[in-house]
Amino acid sequence: MISVKNLGFVYQGGKSAALDGINIEIADGDFVGITGTSGAGKTTFTFALSGIIPQKIKGDFYGAVTVDGVDTAVHPAEEFARKVGQVFQDIDSQMVASVVEDEILFGLENFGVPYEEIAKRVDRVLKDLGIEDLRDREIEGLSGGQKQKVAIASILALEPEVIVLDEPTGELDPESSREIFKILTDLNREKGITVIIVEQKIMLLCEYVKHMMVLDKGKIAFYGTPGDMASSIDTFKDLGINVPRVTELSASLISEKIYDGEVTLTVDEAEKMVRRILK
Ligand SMILES: Nc1ncnc2c1ncn2[C@@H]1O[C@H](COP(=O)(O)OP(=O)(O)OP(=O)(O)O)[C@@H](O)[C@H]1O
Ligand SMILES: [Mg+2]
Repeated sequence: MISVKNLGFVYQGGKSAALDGINIEIADGDFVGITGTSGAGKTTFTFALSGIIPQKIKGDFYGAVTVDGVDTAVHPAEEFARKVGQVFQDIDSQMVASVVEDEILFGLENFGVPYEEIAKRVDRVLKDLGIEDLRDREIEGLSGGQKQKVAIASILALEPEVIVLDEPTGELDPESSREIFKILTDLNREKGITVIIVEQKIMLLCEYVKHMMVLDKGKIAFYGTPGDMASSIDTFKDLGINVPRVTELSASLISEKIYDGEVTLTVDEAEKMVRRILK
């Protein structure tokens, strides 16, 4: 379990707090989507989960973040990567090798994983991500979606309990974005990996995550299931976040007593709603 208590952070030289009084518990096996406007503190929050803050980036740090009781501010961040794996917002800066297989090997060798085990893990993550055909490819020539998969594979090879991703679909087209979410859903369901993902596309969050967290000026402005969002549509609007149109539509049909079902979060659900109303 991840436990965040009274977390606050002010970057060195920063004018205001990037994080301010964050309290949250994230259970093992959860799938949490984090959203919020630019500068809300999303990246900073992910850094606190993996210990990069306060260990690598300096500033005033308050409160505590623990993962299974281990304090991320104290436990060496390099070693901690085996427990909480992080895919950065800028993956190009994360990649160290020029060939896909080497990129995955790198972390494993660094952590001193035995040779026979390394080969098994490389095979396994390439298969899990569906990128066996990319094994010998140059990373430079890959598409954005393929690169993201390689970045995820190299983190997964370390077999972390938690994977944290910062806007992995930021530069991807809708189809590749969905593919990333599908892969993460499989990893979450089949391997029980806790997934924490920063994502601006609210439709994707509604469709795939178990919990949603909205950050605003370093504070948690909303936390709940995608379904809970329906009762907070105005909060979302005030925060500058557009809820899916299908959600807004169903909420108004319910309040007008035209529809007596649940709010809809996806286009599929909305289609079913419309069919029921027309009957
Ligand atoms: N290295 C830094 N030094 C000083 N201030 C910083 C630094 N990095 C971020 N900040 C500030 O901290 C706040 C939170 O930034 P953060 O990068 O966590 O936001 P974000 O929600 O990830 O934004 P984006 O959607 O643009 O990625 C912002 O006000 C930002 O200007
Ligand atoms: Mg960010």
